[in-house]
Amino acid sequence: MADFTGRKPYIAGNWKMNLDRMTALDLVKTIKGRLGDGDDREVAVFPSFVYLADVVAVAQGSPLGVGAQNLYFEEKGAFTGEVSAPMLRDVGATRVLVGHSERRHIFKEPNDVMGPKVAAALKADLLPILCVGETLEERKAGRTRQVVDKQLKAGLAGLTPEQAHRVTIAYEPVWAIGTGVNATPEQAGEVHAFIRGKLKDLFGIDASQGIRILYGGSVKPDNVKDLMAVEDVDGVLVGGASLKPDLFLPIIEFDR
Ligand code: PGA
Repeated sequence: MADFTGRKPYIAGNWKMNLDRMTALDLVKTIKGRLGDGDDREVAVFPSFVYLADVVAVAQGSPLGVGAQNLYFEEKGAFTGEVSAPMLRDVGATRVLVGHSERRHIFKEPNDVMGPKVAAALKADLLPILCVGETLEERKAGRTRQVVDKQLKAGLAGLTPEQAHRVTIAYEPVWAIGTGVNATPEQAGEVHAFIRGKLKDLFGIDASQGIRILYGGSVKPDNVKDLMAVEDVDGVLVGGASLKPDLFLPIIEFDR
């Protein structure tokens, strides 16, 4: 039986297609130097595939987690340009993002591949962060819950409560990503509570209480505390502000 207790705050930096090798490794060294023993918060970075092994090597010996930004659900074969979960494990990654809105919207990844991707990650012992969130159009049409529900059901399809407990959800409203317009704590709180309710329906009360739900979308040093104060916000997934130490360190070290 999985241990469903506690939800340690989780701060994740999604570097997207940014940073060169030197800058990425310098940033990892800086973060590593500032992390304590990792007892009261969990921090991870998600560099480009090509720098994963180097970042893993620098992060070694610290509690800093390292993950990939995407994966393919097959283990191997004729899938030019794709990277599998066992390959990610092989270079030392321990986490992976699934269904980031840029994958869904720019690269047209369909919702129905998210379940197989989450399952492939878990099978290879990677901890997935399943990203969900509505576009501005969908929010304006009053369809936020419907969209998030559909993304959750597809991404978590077929999982047992024990497996689901190893998944983290990231609620990232598409209109808040990279725009400087974050969801208000009230808006985030409403959707996070909705997600918690859905997790309860799918996996039962115990598992649902143990699954972390991150907020993402224009998280900055000056809004992290208010967002983290919201009941069902268990961490943040940070894009732009995770690229520079003067922005990412204050987010990592936010005052609880
Ligand atoms: P942002 O990106 O912090 O730059 O808005 C968040 C994300 O895409 O995960």
